[in-house]
Amino acid sequence: EGHLLIKNASLVLPNGIVEGDLRVSNGQISSIAPGGGLDSDIREKVIDATGLHLLPGVIDPHVHFREPGDNKKEDLESGSRAAAAGGVTSFLDMPNNNPNTTNRATLERKISLASKKSVTHHGFFIGATKNNISDLQSVEGMDGVCGIKIFMGSSTGDLLVHEQDQLENIFANTNGIIAVHAEDEERLQLRSKDFRNRTDIASHAQHRDVECALMATKRAVALAKKYEHRLHIVHLTSGEEADWLNKNKDNLITTEVCTQHLTFDQDDVERLGERVLMNPPIRYTEDKDVLWQRLKDGTIDCVVTDHAPHTLNSKAVGFPNSPAGMPGVETSLPLMLTHAMEGKCNIMD
Ligand code: DOR
Ligand code: ZN
Repeated sequence: EGHLLIKNASLVLPNGIVEGDLRVSNGQISSIAPGGGLDSDIREKVIDATGLHLLPGVIDPHVHFREPGDNKKEDLESGSRAAAAGGVTSFLDMPNNNPNTTNRATLERKISLASKKSVTHHGFFIGATKNNISDLQSVEGMDGVCGIKIFMGSSTGDLLVHEQDQLENIFANTNGIIAVHAEDEERLQLRSKDFRNRTDIASHAQHRDVECALMATKRAVALAKKYEHRLHIVHLTSGEEADWLNKNKDNLITTEVCTQHLTFDQDDVERLGERVLMNPPIRYTEDKDVLWQRLKDGTIDCVVTDHAPHTLNSKAVGFPNSPAGMPGVETSLPLMLTHAMEGKCNIMD
């Protein structure tokens, strides 16, 4: 148990890939030997990894597991096992649950459940509401809490904070990281009548358009700068946002891209329908290309999945009534390795 020797692997290390051996003792990496030469111990399981890469565990900082509230779809055990099966050894989980994770008690419950059920490292966001500033403050610095999540536009669940004074209040009176789902609620509501009668799935990205995402991204960045507050903008989807952030991002601000938005475009939406319905939506080839470019130049800091385990059955009701979201925590690393094989990126990126 916990003693392992991996021989002749292509070790993916911070400064490059080298052939060598790696030893795990008591469940922790105890030696890394570029060039190899580690002799096996009687207690150890030995794996010959000739021709194989050995990568560090992946961090997925954006998943939506369904505990509490919808454990049949996913709980912290099945979610973390899916993560581990896909090479993800740490996840950060979002607060749109039932009940929502918006105060100390609901957070403590999740942390305690995860300590028993999760097979991987984990952290949890607390969700902002219109009136829970004191709850947000009460969990600052607490072990297992990674930050505050604000849905600036409505998505799956009912978490939403979009009024300017309420946003100002949160940025002014909290510490730590604020992660925002950046879609502009006013624009969504204003234009919803234009899309009420549309049942074609292409209308999803037309309603939740680039302008909607860009407006909210700009608004969040302005708040971060005004209050000198650390900000993380979740799932960038448009080339315009990525280009704008390239010019306007400073060290207060980080951002991410989903594997889905690096992989799919409008043609996949036509082909796969509701299964690739998510918020913010899958966009266009030009957006996908710019997201790759901005990931490579470092404007985008990390790759995430926005893992959301909707069932095929619940998707089957058809657009516009199908729920938005896609799974991915188990497949993100294989998918990125496939992109690497095809030349879209490099294993060291
Ligand atoms: O498509 C989405 N699904 N976007 C979100 O913001 C939430 C997620 C979910 O929880 O289903
Ligand atoms: Zn999400």
